Amino acid sequence: MASKTIYVCSECGYKSIKWLGKCPNCSSWNTLSEEEIEDTVSESKNSMRKSMLTRAGSEVEAIALSENDLPDYLREKTGCAEFDRVLGGGLVNGSVVLISGEPGIGKSTLLLQICSSYNAEGNILYVSGEESAAQISLRAKRLGIKGQDIYVLSETNTPKILEKAKSLSPKLLIVDSIQTMYHTESNTIPGSVTQIRECASMYINFAKTSGVPVILVGHVTKEGSIAGPKVLEHMVDTVLYFEGDRSQGFRLIRAMKNRFGPTNEIGVFEMTDSGLKEMPNPSSLLLSDRPGNVSGNCAIAIIEGTRPLIAEIQALVTPTIFPSPKRMSTGTDYNRLALILAVLEKRLGLRFSINDVYLNVVGGIRIEETASDTGTALALISSIRDIPVPEDLVCMGELGLSGEIRAVSRAEDRVAEAKRLGFKKVVLPKRNIKLLHKVPDGIELIPVANIFELLKLFAPNGGEKC
Ligand SMILES: Nc1ncnc2c1ncn2[C@@H]1O[C@H](COP(=O)(O)OP(=O)(O)OP(=O)(O)O)[C@@H](O)[C@H]1O
Ligand SMILES: [Mg+2]
Repeated sequence: MASKTIYVCSECGYKSIKWLGKCPNCSSWNTLSEEEIEDTVSESKNSMRKSMLTRAGSEVEAIALSENDLPDYLREKTGCAEFDRVLGGGLVNGSVVLISGEPGIGKSTLLLQICSSYNAEGNILYVSGEESAAQISLRAKRLGIKGQDIYVLSETNTPKILEKAKSLSPKLLIVDSIQTMYHTESNTIPGSVTQIRECASMYINFAKTSGVPVILVGHVTKEGSIAGPKVLEHMVDTVLYFEGDRSQGFRLIRAMKNRFGPTNEIGVFEMTDSGLKEMPNPSSLLLSDRPGNVSGNCAIAIIEGTRPLIAEIQALVTPTIFPSPKRMSTGTDYNRLALILAVLEKRLGLRFSINDVYLNVVGGIRIEETASDTGTALALISSIRDIPVPEDLVCMGELGLSGEIRAVSRAEDRVAEAKRLGFKKVVLPKRNIKLLHKVPDGIELIPVANIFELLKLFAPNGGEKC
């Protein structure tokens, strides 16, 4: 069989017979890489023609949805409550989960811990294409995992791995990582788009035919997306991202796609010497080491998934030395920061345009909820005016372009979480006051309808220009 060279885009899987600097399909630069493929086109055309002829003769049957009386998904608890929460209640039999994250974030650690806590009867096969069996057992020793029924296989050849998996018939198969796996029939190097796609489809096929859940580890590119073809995320049932600030112990797992559960849940962990520890109360970790009486800091009440969370937002506003002032945001959307700054400048006359602005969410978490807007605005005002926000105050509310503060969902849960963590004052949108059924004792509610009221509360001088 003759082989030929094609160029495949690592972002979208687009194929071209010649090299191109820019992918015509997804417009990414420098993503086309060379791959050798066997010329099976004419052969596959023939086999397709044959199968179409065979199928033309046989009849297909559709089943009425009402008659299809199938039981609910069979789930197994992984024994790690935070991981189960993200999965929607446990691992579904026959499902394929892709978990990705930055190098060293703790993917292998988490999966080894899951091997030890997994509830179902039987063996677990942990395949590593990155580490030797000795390295894995050293890690297991450090984590205090005995692992009588955990089998470790240091191998990258997918057909061989699946052969072993079929003979062992484990209750769970873990593949660390899909980018290191290869399939001999495809003539390309491991990590190439074709190899990843083919190996992934072999593991998916194994999961669907045997009913064994499979967890695949995925690398990320320097932009933060999963390395390999985008189609990989479409092929698997669940895509999880493991994130956090590597310099700090805080780790989050988020579901980006889940065919068997919601995608808004997060799992929270703390990385320690003895492995990942579940954090059922993440707010207490996020608020530890709060500097007291410093301007620019503000506690905010957000909802992550179904869980209320109190985080801390920090702003630093300093006079600029650049022709165009610098803006930096870590843990929040840059465009949202630009919007809040524009509203504060236009409506309150605060001169952010002559200042550099740095915004940071403590703990390396990422906030997407607009309910954090009021807290961000308060932190920015606090920093530009150099007036500290009271330590026992927590803030919530979405900011509109005219400076109005809009209602947030589940205000009662946020207030209850603030109370639990010892906060005494809660700044919240005026409209939310009417919707609150019960206010916990010892909590002072401060309703605000717009940013003018917000400014009056904490900066009695009003909105004069700085
Ligand atoms: N004593 C320790 N020895 C090694 N790692 C430790 C120790 N204590 C904590 N760690 C943490 O474990 C992390 C390594 O975790 P792990 O190997 O599971 O990451 P990973 O996401 O699988 O990385 P990779 O992408 O390289 O496979 C380190 O970055 C470090 O934060
Ligand atoms: Mg690893």
